[in-house]
Amino acid sequence: MNILLTGGTGYIGSHTAVVLANAGHSVVLLDNFCNSNRSVSERINQITNQMIPCIEGDVRDTGLLVKTLTEFKIEAVIHFAGLKAVGESGQEPLKYYDNNVAGSISLLEAMKQVNVKTIVFSSSATVYGEPQYLPYDEEHPLNPINTYGRTKLQVEEILQDLAKSDPQWRITLLRYFNPVGAHESGLIGEDPNGIPNNLMPYIMQVASGKLPHLNIFGNDYDTRDGTGERDYIHVMDLAEGHLAALSFLQNHQGCETFNLGTGKPVSVIELLSAYEQACGQKLPTKLAPRREGDLPIYYAKPNKAKEYLGWMVTRGVADVSTSSYRWQQMRDGLAAS
Ligand code: NAD
Ligand code: UD1
Repeated sequence: MNILLTGGTGYIGSHTAVVLANAGHSVVLLDNFCNSNRSVSERINQITNQMIPCIEGDVRDTGLLVKTLTEFKIEAVIHFAGLKAVGESGQEPLKYYDNNVAGSISLLEAMKQVNVKTIVFSSSATVYGEPQYLPYDEEHPLNPINTYGRTKLQVEEILQDLAKSDPQWRITLLRYFNPVGAHESGLIGEDPNGIPNNLMPYIMQVASGKLPHLNIFGNDYDTRDGTGERDYIHVMDLAEGHLAALSFLQNHQGCETFNLGTGKPVSVIELLSAYEQACGQKLPTKLAPRREGDLPIYYAKPNKAKEYLGWMVTRGVADVSTSSYRWQQMRDGLAAS
């Protein structure tokens, strides 16, 4: 199948590109490089031993999308392109609604014009908000507590309405939990700008010596060891979830939602210990106050994805840590050269 990946050089898009290309699909990447760069596409080519087209462009450019969809005879789109920093989304809401919501409308308009009606959308567990019960299943009430989460929910609602308006649309909404890890080659991985907000990239920068210590945001939660627990999913498992979603859409019209998570919560201390094991050194930590807006624990019920997509995770925190460490070493090497 010919598949367009918007945001295809980003963290999750790049790993998905590798999985799809290795499965025999023809992949085209489109990215405006606001949070990535062209060298990622060269490294994807290196891993897959293919020349994957990579177009520089913005999803808000409907004309460019129409041209791209037509030129490459695209049959399905995976829509990764978006902004994802929770804090920034509160400070600059218009930027987030424009990029994430207006960007999605522009893409859907282009797809409609050229009659490409199969799309996989990158949503987030953030749409659930404060847990009414755990694990979150797909029926859990939706009440995002930040602007970023609301942009994701709005696009989900637009896609639901689109499916109702025209039965030819084939749509999956994938709600990712906490993506971590890297491709086993160490050639691609998460590469955040500035000081990371998320736990795994922060741990990696402490291990690299770029940051002095990890702040542990609270150890008095009602969890196994008092630190926050999350559902960390290996990015390669997540990437394989997209392949499964595309296969599902071959035989299903309408709009279906799936959680992509492991179903197994892991604490800050547990993830840190796994990384220390992989890098062979003890990392400095400091106890810090709870981070505002943090939930003590949340994780997925991934049963629906298993039942409908035949998908489940095959990797754990040890794989997450060894692959992340390989990527850290590669990136540190690139920075030094
Ligand atoms: P990322 O920032 O690494 O990748 C997103 C890519 O989209 C980047 O390469 C960026 O340059 C590109 N992009 C942004 N706006 C664009 C635009 N208007 N036009 C073209 N390209 C644009 O992020 P990621 O972690 O790979 O996330 C991919 C998607 O998954 C995002 O939509 C994100 O909201 C969602 N998601 C991510 C997480 C996570 O923790 N990583 C969790 C849940 C959902
Ligand atoms: C964050 C986002 C969420 C997004 C998710 C995806 C916020 C408020 N939420 O949530 O919208 O869907 O990432 O990956 O940004 N921690 C530390 N020290 C650190 C960093 C984190 O102790 O330096 C702890 C946190 O308190 C939490 C856990 O590590 O218990 C995970 O944090 P993080 O990686 O930021 O993920 P989320 O909190 O799930």
